[in-house]
Amino acid sequence: MRSDFRHGDRVVSYLDAAGPGPSAPGQTVVLLHAFPVAAETWRPQLEAVPAGWRFIAPDLRGFGQSEVGDPAAPASMEGYARDVVGLLDHLCLDRVVVGGLSMGGYVAFALQRLAPERLAGLVLADTRAEADDETARANRDRMAETLAQGGLVPAVESMVAHLLGPTSLRSRPDVVRRVRELVLAQPLGAIYRALRSMKSRPDSTSLLAGITCPTLVVVGAEDLITKVEIARDMHARIPGAELAVIEEAGHLSNLEQPVAFNAALAAFLMRVACR
Ligand code: MLT
Repeated sequence: MRSDFRHGDRVVSYLDAAGPGPSAPGQTVVLLHAFPVAAETWRPQLEAVPAGWRFIAPDLRGFGQSEVGDPAAPASMEGYARDVVGLLDHLCLDRVVVGGLSMGGYVAFALQRLAPERLAGLVLADTRAEADDETARANRDRMAETLAQGGLVPAVESMVAHLLGPTSLRSRPDVVRRVRELVLAQPLGAIYRALRSMKSRPDSTSLLAGITCPTLVVVGAEDLITKVEIARDMHARIPGAELAVIEEAGHLSNLEQPVAFNAALAAFLMRVACR
């Protein structure tokens, strides 16, 4: 089900799905999407919500059906995290499990900084705690310039080739088509805002040792953007964290291998529920 609410000057849109049976308090997962796509990428998880759980996937500011608002407003990961807190308040949700994939993971770190008391668990998928280095920042500027000159169409194939692993590119034309469609559907205003936000995000490495909620680190074995070693290192730094490596998946591991991703997520949520 898609719903929305007004947050400040903007509409925030989100997808909301419940598993079989009544969902227990604290058994909600908020799923935060990657760049440059939208909440729709969580469709395989929203269609397989475990019993007793509720999954909510917002379109981050400007993406999907969420409005971008004032283009001159400061762009930061903290801004996205404030929108997520606004969503939790709107839905009267005190504590939730937050699952972020790639850029969504950067927002999850911003939430860990902003409102750690709202986190009942963390899923960090295909993401990294480190800030951008100089090369990454320069690449963000280059991408913004290229998009300003030619729009998304000339850039989309290279974006898709980075987001998906070789197995999906070779043998999952449905996934390739879907990701291409989702990238092409995103407004440039949202993309520029996200590039500025990612470029200026603080390093979150020092947060890792202080994470006290149950945490699952997930990574696609074929992820070209956030390699498995990065996930292993992050996993080693978070006390008690679990690690799931998803075979034959690239950066969008939840979309590329939903069965394996959902199994890892469901097993983790069962442990969160039993605490
Ligand atoms: C993403 O998938 O969200 C991006 O690859 C993250 C990034 O560019 O750092």
